[in-house]
Amino acid sequence: MSSTLGVSRPDQASYMLRTAASDAGRAYKQQLLDLLDIQAGQTALDVGCGPGTDLPALAERVGDSGMVIGVDRDPAMLIQARERTGDLDQVEVREGDVHALPLVPGTVDRAKADRVLMHVAEPADALAQLHRTTRPGARVGLAEPDWDTLIVDTEDLETSRAFTRFITAEIVRNATIGRSLARLAEQAGFHVDTVLGTTPVFQDFHEADHTLGLGRNMQKAISDGHIDRDRGRRWFDGLSQGPFYASFTLVSVICSR
Ligand SMILES: C[S@@+](CC[C@H](N)C(=O)[O-])C[C@H]1O[C@@H](n2cnc3c(N)ncnc32)[C@H](O)[C@@H]1O
Repeated sequence: MSSTLGVSRPDQASYMLRTAASDAGRAYKQQLLDLLDIQAGQTALDVGCGPGTDLPALAERVGDSGMVIGVDRDPAMLIQARERTGDLDQVEVREGDVHALPLVPGTVDRAKADRVLMHVAEPADALAQLHRTTRPGARVGLAEPDWDTLIVDTEDLETSRAFTRFITAEIVRNATIGRSLARLAEQAGFHVDTVLGTTPVFQDFHEADHTLGLGRNMQKAISDGHIDRDRGRRWFDGLSQGPFYASFTLVSVICSR
């Protein structure tokens, strides 16, 4: 299979599901759910639930006597989330924004936001909303990458560095929120119980190209004048030849209210 510089952005829902289904995706998601220590009968909130990736797993943990609420602002995601959970009576999917959560204050026992805060306008306000929505004693799990840690092996180290700088400066809104997650959680009034860093490693070029948007983002970097065209093309062409390595760090924080 060959790859092209600048392929268009993949459909968002299938992108999220494929990322979640990768070995690295499954591992940190499982860990986050385990650390949340969800009990039968509890109310669990998934903020920025996307296509409902984790809603069935949350439903299994709260059981028939519990409740799972998935919130997302994107109607296309909500359609998929509802389809995925149509046979699960304890799951409710609501349209809403993390800056103004559509929930009664103090009603949630467990909440999670997985790769959502990196996209939002005001992460501190979003965390304040999570604090408002949860009960005293509630547990909250957060997971966000820190894109400054993105490394891609090539002989052209400078272009790899320029690529990472482009991602952090131009592509992801809160690209370095991973390192600040515990501090932001404390500032929102949570007690931080656990901080973990996981490093998904990509040794397959095509998998990395899909998840990290290597070709798509390099094309944008070239088009926007951040990286020289020939240099960018050479960098990308070289990636698919020979052994491949790329990785980044994802930070998970478990905190309590
Ligand atoms: C990278 S996806 C992650 C989806 C899901 N948490 C998962 O792990 O598969 C980010 C999701 O956050 C949602 N999102 C982004 N900003 C939001 C906001 N301000 N309020 C609610 N949802 C938001 C997006 O619509 C998208 O579905």
